Amino acid sequence: MIDRIAQIRDRAEAQISAAADSGALEAARIEYLGRRAELPNLLRHVAELAPDQRAAVGKAANEARRALEDAIARKQAELAAHELEQRLASDRVDVTLPADPQPDLGRLHLLTQTRREIEDVFVGLGFNVAEGPEVETVYYNFDALNHAPTHPSRLMSDTFYVKADGTVDIFDPQTHLLRVHTSPMQIRAMESQPPPIYIILPGRVYRPDSDATHTPQFHQIEGLAVDTDITLADLQGTLLTFARAIFGEERQVRLRPHFFPFTEPSVEVDVSCFNCTDGVAADGRRCPLCKGTAWIEILGAGMVDPNVFEYVREHGYDPEQVQGFAFGMGIERIAMLKHGIPDLRLFFDNDVRFLEQF
Ligand code: PHE
Repeated sequence: MIDRIAQIRDRAEAQISAAADSGALEAARIEYLGRRAELPNLLRHVAELAPDQRAAVGKAANEARRALEDAIARKQAELAAHELEQRLASDRVDVTLPADPQPDLGRLHLLTQTRREIEDVFVGLGFNVAEGPEVETVYYNFDALNHAPTHPSRLMSDTFYVKADGTVDIFDPQTHLLRVHTSPMQIRAMESQPPPIYIILPGRVYRPDSDATHTPQFHQIEGLAVDTDITLADLQGTLLTFARAIFGEERQVRLRPHFFPFTEPSVEVDVSCFNCTDGVAADGRRCPLCKGTAWIEILGAGMVDPNVFEYVREHGYDPEQVQGFAFGMGIERIAMLKHGIPDLRLFFDNDVRFLEQF
């Protein structure tokens, strides 16, 4: 009887250790420890054995059962670990792999890209960035910017007025309008902080124009620097740095006399043409970009008029103590020049064939 138990135990141990998966192990368990298996059956009938055999057979059978139970538990743990490892290996999905086909993630509109590019240049020069209201008052849009009451840009044909009650008084400082430029933000910026101030002010502006080179809504970036000992040379140096960052290291800038109500002196700023040499294009013909002049107008600028400081004097801007320069450029114009875009309206048609190119 003892020999038989040893035999069963040997066979069972061999089968358990050979089990290749949990199914085979379970089959071995049923075969050797299940309800109809020989060993448990033998244990159940130990009492019926001859008294001199009972103790030895009972002990051997119990030991065998415990040994097999242990062996099965160990094997079970081993197989479970192995099977988990295999499942992990075969189930692995690399979520960082690009999808196939790669989904089109979209992109920033060229105007947003251009605005950010310009902002980066000025932030690098120490300027801050701020934004302000598109619905302005006559006070900020015209009066505080030193526009005479007769200035033509105040006309209904040049400005979108916002009518609250059906009538518009274009001379009332509190009348609302869609701002025609970002310059009102010069005043708001100076009201909100004392000098020194170095700030750029991007945003949408509105004028009642519509053709290939004018849209009723477009974008500007205003610049304002106020400090002590600021001169026109600082303006020129700042704009030269800007022009080189945007249009290439070889660029030059030149200032031409002009007029704006809120700067004195006022200038228009040209950048040297990046499409030709002295007005002659690579094909030997007159350069179409600068029309043979070798210069391209990019923005308006000037020294802040002392009359403008009078409007913010109480905020720390004494025209005898501080000077400043201001400039304003069209973002569309910069993007058109830089990327050779022929029609302003392309920016607002939102044709993906256009948008996808940038
Ligand atoms: N606001 C002017 C325009 O829209 C541009 C400008 C800004 C000129 C700042 C001088 C100084 O044409």
